[in-house]
Amino acid sequence: MTPVNKADKLSPDASEKGDLSMPAKVDMDKIVSLCKRRGLIFPSSEIYGGLASCWDYGPMGVELKRNVRDVWWKSIVHERADVVGLDTSIMMHPGVWTASGHIDSFTDPLVECKSCHLRWRADAVEGKGCPKCGGELTEPRMFNLMFKTSMGPVEEEASTVYLRPETAQGIFVNFDNVITTSRKKLPLGIAQIGKSFRNEITPGNFIFRTREFEHMELEYFVKPGTDEEWLDYWVKERFDWYVKLGIRKENLRLRQHGKDELAHYARDCYDVEYLFPMGWSELEGIANRGDFDLIQHAKHSGRELSYYDAEAGEKYVPYVIEPSAGVDRSLLAFLVDAYDEEEVGGEKRTVLHLHRSLAPIKVAVLPLSRNEKLTPLAKEVFNKLCPNFVTDYDDSQSIGRRYRRQDEIGTPFCVTIDFESLEDKQVTIRERDSLAQIRVPVEELGKILEAKLKGEAFDASPLWATREK
Ligand code: GAP
Repeated sequence: MTPVNKADKLSPDASEKGDLSMPAKVDMDKIVSLCKRRGLIFPSSEIYGGLASCWDYGPMGVELKRNVRDVWWKSIVHERADVVGLDTSIMMHPGVWTASGHIDSFTDPLVECKSCHLRWRADAVEGKGCPKCGGELTEPRMFNLMFKTSMGPVEEEASTVYLRPETAQGIFVNFDNVITTSRKKLPLGIAQIGKSFRNEITPGNFIFRTREFEHMELEYFVKPGTDEEWLDYWVKERFDWYVKLGIRKENLRLRQHGKDELAHYARDCYDVEYLFPMGWSELEGIANRGDFDLIQHAKHSGRELSYYDAEAGEKYVPYVIEPSAGVDRSLLAFLVDAYDEEEVGGEKRTVLHLHRSLAPIKVAVLPLSRNEKLTPLAKEVFNKLCPNFVTDYDDSQSIGRRYRRQDEIGTPFCVTIDFESLEDKQVTIRERDSLAQIRVPVEELGKILEAKLKGEAFDASPLWATREK
């Protein structure tokens, strides 16, 4: 267990225990090391020694993260007629957090060791003494997880505001704005993706639990009485979303919250759990928030927040079903599930079997060697592809090494240009998972790649030829 350090500079590997009843197949160190090596994720402010639990997304990580957001937005907003999007500010009127219950209830109990002065989460301490030195512990003190800052140019007159700990409240306070301007009927969802901040007592396990992270939240407003049905619907939708994006079913499970662990606003809640390297842990929560938030904001703001159902001729305060996921935590699950080490031609290869919609780079253009005769055609191919696909160009080191580099970041297709290409205007496409290679005319390359990236089987092509040895 890792203590809570007063200097607020926690060890990046502060433990989040998870349920260790089943071992995971890859340890976190390998994921962290791959992320550093291949420009996915770096420790924040690294040249200053880093800042605990803060991470920066590198050139490959930023693409992967965008893809996670985009596939969520596509499936939640663009592919549905009953959900609209929103983007609200991080700092909100302080009254929001009083109404939402975050000022009073968004707290964790902390105890402090009277000898070594380390702080611990009270509910994580087994026995009576300090887990480090055995010293006497203080009585638990409640610790609010919201970050405070001041707003206004003159410090003495500045007012205290909070960095939002969830994006959900920005949606609730805009409920009336959206209903009156979108002319949509219930059930209606409002979705938002954005940064949230929590002064977590035990951050750690890489990007699993951090103090600054990104939320993907949907508040789905329904007629009271239909809420349980909609909760079941969204639990299934969200579970299936991870499976569709390549996460193995056996690494996912659902867990209903016990009455004693429900958040202050929730009537019911399910967690989608994933078998992370530290054991089964929450990946996403899907809660039935009832009418808690709209009632609270109506009470505290003095504005009525209800819905007039013209068909039924009645007015009511909608209930809310909330699937709430983390961009970073989903990204970690996708990485862990995609990670594989295998032997190819007597050599070890590390590969990310990422779903093609998530892969940071879709196509890599690789001339067989850096040769003045090959370069013009290779550049021509790159220029043709890059307006339509995120494309990489790499002509350094041996072709085998370049394939391995692309495998490690999960690039689904490599296009190789060789000396024959100069004669027959054909190039080789090599697929990441099967290692199968097909030879196709440059003219048709874009069309073929587009079909393959949409999911067309690779070896079904009549041009199927060889497999990388
Ligand atoms: N609005 C409801 C809500 O925020 P939550 O269970 O606290 O519910 C939802 O958070 C999801 O957000 C979690 O399942 C996780 O994916 C992500 N999340 C929460 N706290 C996080 C943190 N400190 N670091 C990274 N992700 C976090």
